[in-house]
Amino acid sequence: MRAVRVHQTGGPEVLRLDEVDAPRPGPGEALIRVAVAGVNMADVGMRAGFFHGAGRLPATPGFEAGGDVEAVGDGVDGSWVGRRVVAELLGGYAEYAVAPADALIAVPDGLALEDAIAVPIQGLTALGALRDGGRLADGDTVLVTGAAGGVGSQAVQIARALGAELAAALAGAAEKRALALDLGADAAVDYRAEDWEDQVRAVTGSGERPGPVPGGNPMQAAPGVADLALDGVAGPVTAGLLRLAVPRTGRIVTVGGASGAPPDLDVFELNRRNLTVTGFSLPTWAQLPGWRAQAAGLLLGWLRDGRVRVVRGPEFPLDRAVDAHRALEDRSATGKLILRVA
Ligand SMILES: NC(=O)c1ccc[n+]([C@@H]2O[C@H](COP(=O)([O-])OP(=O)(O)OC[C@H]3O[C@@H](n4cnc5c(N)ncnc54)[C@H](OP(=O)(O)O)[C@@H]3O)[C@@H](O)[C@H]2O)c1
Repeated sequence: MRAVRVHQTGGPEVLRLDEVDAPRPGPGEALIRVAVAGVNMADVGMRAGFFHGAGRLPATPGFEAGGDVEAVGDGVDGSWVGRRVVAELLGGYAEYAVAPADALIAVPDGLALEDAIAVPIQGLTALGALRDGGRLADGDTVLVTGAAGGVGSQAVQIARALGAELAAALAGAAEKRALALDLGADAAVDYRAEDWEDQVRAVTGSGERPGPVPGGNPMQAAPGVADLALDGVAGPVTAGLLRLAVPRTGRIVTVGGASGAPPDLDVFELNRRNLTVTGFSLPTWAQLPGWRAQAAGLLLGWLRDGRVRVVRGPEFPLDRAVDAHRALEDRSATGKLILRVA
């Protein structure tokens, strides 16, 4: 079969299309004939060598794939064979890939595979980070970073579906902010602007400036505007999210660092504002028995009733995985990037 492989870690050019033997499903596994592979930031991390999941080389990237189940291993319900599925797995950039049976998500009739493929990683991360990591409550004001990206574009909509009163999108280019508004964000702010925090304060209603209360105790926090922030960008953006958070109850969920920098976490600001900063890792949450099935069922329901829609991003053939990675890394893409395998 054809498979993209990384022989040595590095830039996008290290992705090579090879002819290799197809994998076989072991006990508890299913073999998927891959039609589309999702392209995720984690694939970039694996290719570049800084992601802990890289394993031994040569290896096939791709943490997400969708297609039909071709065969199952021992201990797996045979009724999966022939069903259309999407799954989080290893080695998705190939004509065949093996997934743990408990990672299979059946694609409901009427939902396109090109939309369902946005569920296993980006959709479940957006849902899990907001609901389980960030404990989104009815009436919350929520900030979403990278709001036109794969996780962000779903998070803006999921925040509303979970009961947020106001969802504000943080995004770079003007067309990305326009997309976020089109998805239902109440406001969109360019967080590359120097005064982006002031802009967020203005659009979320309070307009109050940060800093110590004049004449007051310098360890007292100024008012904040955001109950919850989803941070997939990190770097200095995280410091701004801290300053915007509502004292005592504000939560920041960090899911990643698309900017390439670690979160700029000013612990003194954290203390002063009595905030909660928490991490969210999808693979770790998905270890909880039943979590993935419940979360995927909820999200697939919202995709079917239109409460959440997938923004389809650029599509590349398998032999152009290099270009797919470039599009993620140069920040030009929006929505869900896929590789068309069959
Ligand atoms: N914890 C988990 O389990 C988990 C699961 C999936 C994803 N993630 C993480 O979540 C984050 C978002 O993932 P995604 O799949 O939504 O990625 P994506 O589609 O590429 O979106 C990421 C967004 O980050 C913004 N960004 C800011 N600085 C950037 C830079 N230097 N290079 C590239 N993008 C930059 C871009 O928006 P602007 O141009 O508008 O700023 C981009 O749209 C990533 O950090 C990813 O690793 C975590």
